Amino acid sequence: RLIRVVKDLEHGCESTVWTLRQVASAMTVEMRAGLATHSGSKLEMLVTFVDKLPNGSEKGTYYALDLLDTNFRVSRVQLGGTRSSTLVCDVYQQPIPQNLVTGTSEDLFDFIASSLKEFVERERDVPEHSLDITRKLGFTFSFPVKQTSVSSGTLLKWTKGFVIKDMVGREIAECLEKATTKKGLKMRVAALVNDSVGTLTLGHYHDIDVVAAVILGRGTNACYLERTDAIIKFPELLASSSDMVINIEWGNFYSIYLPRTVHDKELDADSPNPNNQVFEKLISGMYLGDIVRRVILRMSRESDTFEAISSKLSVPFILRTEMIAAMHEDDSDDLTEVGSILRDVLEIPDVPLKVRRFIVKVCDVVTRRAARLAAAGIAGILKKIGRDGTDGITDRCRDYHEMRKTVVAIDGSLYTDYTMFREYMHEALTEILGEGVAQHVILKVIKDGSAIGAALVVASHSSYLVDSV
Ligand code: BG6
Ligand code: GLC
Repeated sequence: RLIRVVKDLEHGCESTVWTLRQVASAMTVEMRAGLATHSGSKLEMLVTFVDKLPNGSEKGTYYALDLLDTNFRVSRVQLGGTRSSTLVCDVYQQPIPQNLVTGTSEDLFDFIASSLKEFVERERDVPEHSLDITRKLGFTFSFPVKQTSVSSGTLLKWTKGFVIKDMVGREIAECLEKATTKKGLKMRVAALVNDSVGTLTLGHYHDIDVVAAVILGRGTNACYLERTDAIIKFPELLASSSDMVINIEWGNFYSIYLPRTVHDKELDADSPNPNNQVFEKLISGMYLGDIVRRVILRMSRESDTFEAISSKLSVPFILRTEMIAAMHEDDSDDLTEVGSILRDVLEIPDVPLKVRRFIVKVCDVVTRRAARLAAAGIAGILKKIGRDGTDGITDRCRDYHEMRKTVVAIDGSLYTDYTMFREYMHEALTEILGEGVAQHVILKVIKDGSAIGAALVVASHSSYLVDSV
């Protein structure tokens, strides 16, 4: 019966290169639709107002705030006017108490403002560390935001398990500034950026061939550089000839070609946002562990291999993605790591080796599908911008060697810390694009987009390169 469960899973998760190409094409179609109208697509295709990317001469001291899942990080970034002098001088990371993630916006921002104030008060090494100075802040807020300018916007919806209901529809920068003012701290949100946008900005700062960025972490998303004349839903932008960074919010992508199983559908139905973020729920680090948990629960219900059904198997999100990676990459002969995780986390002791092998197979199937779908998403973006080799470029070049290099910046622990995920993703991208094109597409890890990248957005959009402190 175990074999049956695994076979069903493999069948349901199957992602042939044909399927992946359909997914990529569907992504391109949805991207076009999202650029054409405000509500005609699953993809928000959010205009970020980031239309000037840094050129390397940016200067100044800026603050960056990154709101992560269970913690947030404040940094002070020093831009010295050259790429080599850019520095993150000080970082302060603080856990967010769980009750604040599901409480009120006022409580969350009051808490963040107190920590920001503590951070500023500890700055002994900054020449002018008075509280009277207005500090410029780049706020990395990694949720779907309808921007009204580079520094303002309202929250469209929460993702990644956040549920602060009164925050939806509110102006984010205003909430933060109100809270900091209450604490007597002068902080101006000078840029409100998505994590993908910070990553693209920092990537492009170091390499002008960076045209897109992808986040593969607890959540997943991508952004890219689009011509303003393609953003039909914003006719006012047509007058400008520059490029604009578009936050795709690809986590919400849906296509009939997405390989989904009963476990994915149940996970979606049990989530606080059913029918939303379907692509994200198949790919990102927040969900992979829970898909595996659901499969193991089914294994334990449908076979008598496990002595009893552990109650831990019914605890949502008990299996985290780093545990999936550890089991998947366990190269010991007797799969010791798999045994320990099953025993210590799921309270299933003494699992025979044969069954441990099935568990590894489950991790493999779920992760491989995720990685391959992420690759299809990237191929979809490349297709949209004519860099997938099907846009006449190959004809014109006749020879792949003449194709322009395309760099995609990537951040997020799913990609950086999970080797098998990364390898499956690269393999799939090559399969989709073909070797000739794939050799011109470089996936480059960019760290610190949410600190330096956010500061660079502030600097490149403030009127001029004078020291801000
Ligand atoms: C971090 C960025 O490096 O990566 C965040 O600072 C981003 O802004 C994150 O959201 C995504 O990865 P993970 O794995 O931490 O969710
Ligand atoms: C979620 C958010 C998105 C973010 C991504 C990665 O999908 O909606 O804004 O970029 O997670 O953190």
